[in-house]
Amino acid sequence: MSENKRERASEATAFALTDGVSPQFTTKLHVGRPNVGNFQEFVALAKSCWDSRYLTNNGPMVRRFEERLQEIMRVKHVICVTNCTVGIEIVLRSFKFKPGSEIIVPSFTFVASAHACANVGLRVRFADCNPRTHCIDVSSVRDLLTENTVAILAVNVWGNPCDDAALRSIAAQRNLKIVYDSAHAFNCSGFGGNGIRGSFGDAEVFSFHATKFFNSCEGGAVTTNNDAVARAVRQYRNFAFVDYDHVVGFGTNAKMSEMHAAAGLVNLKCLDRVIELNRRNYEEYKRGLGALKGIDLLEYDDDDDGSKWNYQYIVVRVDKKQFGISRDDLVVLLHAEGCLARKYFYPGVHRFEPYRRMDPDAEKRVPNTIAISSEVMTLPTGTAVDLHMIRNICALLANVERSRERLATFFSRAADVRVPPNPQGGSLPKSIEKITESPISEKSGG
Ligand SMILES: Cc1ncc(COP(=O)(O)O)c(C=O)c1O
Repeated sequence: MSENKRERASEATAFALTDGVSPQFTTKLHVGRPNVGNFQEFVALAKSCWDSRYLTNNGPMVRRFEERLQEIMRVKHVICVTNCTVGIEIVLRSFKFKPGSEIIVPSFTFVASAHACANVGLRVRFADCNPRTHCIDVSSVRDLLTENTVAILAVNVWGNPCDDAALRSIAAQRNLKIVYDSAHAFNCSGFGGNGIRGSFGDAEVFSFHATKFFNSCEGGAVTTNNDAVARAVRQYRNFAFVDYDHVVGFGTNAKMSEMHAAAGLVNLKCLDRVIELNRRNYEEYKRGLGALKGIDLLEYDDDDDGSKWNYQYIVVRVDKKQFGISRDDLVVLLHAEGCLARKYFYPGVHRFEPYRRMDPDAEKRVPNTIAISSEVMTLPTGTAVDLHMIRNICALLANVERSRERLATFFSRAADVRVPPNPQGGSLPKSIEKITESPISEKSGG
């Protein structure tokens, strides 16, 4: 039993955080709960790897997985890797940029996008994001170009497509590489379906981390239509060996294991079902949240034109002025109810060390990132929720709206005791303490 029936009408606007009633959801509802396929099928594939002693080094399972992904994405080359972060690194390594070269990266992304660039010796310059799509803002990219700029790492945030045509035209004028961090964008296509994600830029890199709607436990893939890029990426995935006796650069070990490929192959079978589920959940949230002022669901563009989405993120922007409660307070309140909403991508990568020290001016350049990262949260979807739970999450938010004045007073008092922290720790409501102490999940953000 995952939901707690609040049968008495008087409890409708009572909250676990403020009134001590039991949480609405007794089993916690997660954002990014892994979607998995049939375990017996996985066992059968894993056994065949085990028995053959082919456990890694581009074995038959990885090749099969790459073939299936190639069919789905209709792209010439798919190169499976250990994860998206290392995938971005090997793509950039394979371009052999001069040390100290600059790469333009959005600040509104998971920190891995910037780390991958910095880890290969590139200087990261942070661009702002577009307030509608949350993807990199093209005019912000133009403002950052210098004679040292060698590449743009654009992120297809929530599976939304970046403005590829505009980025391509900048790249062509300045002879830059474009790499897409498509960690969110597997099985999406923008631009009216003219190209499934996988075939844009010099390369795209996908994440198959457990929290993504499609996963291979850990994993990722580099995709490209460019033969030379594919060849180099395959080499850099394997220490930059070109044959037994020759190494051509600073490669690394980015090989996906056979077990991970087996998990990916099994989970791929559920792909359409999970997307359908995500879409159904998204439509239900759309119906349920439509009337709430100051709670704006990020809409996926109309897909009548052939565009495709994976609907893996339910993205909500909380406007404190209209809703009466800030995003941060709402996240605390929802957590106390067992609904583990997540802030995204707070506070903006440019504010993390060492980037803050390396690029202190970024703060002035990214107003959209600052505003959006302080107002956006994601809500549970996928197999973590059914329609009934979604209706209850929406009803909970409606009750918050109804109780906004009382809650605003509560939070203003709670803020008093939070800043500066109370040395005795006594007056902080227990549920807030718990939430601030425990990490949301093993990995925050991505
Ligand atoms: C935008 C973005 N880029 C990169 C990553 C890193 O992916 P991985 O965990 O596969 O390295 C993530 C995910 O977590 C992400 O959300």
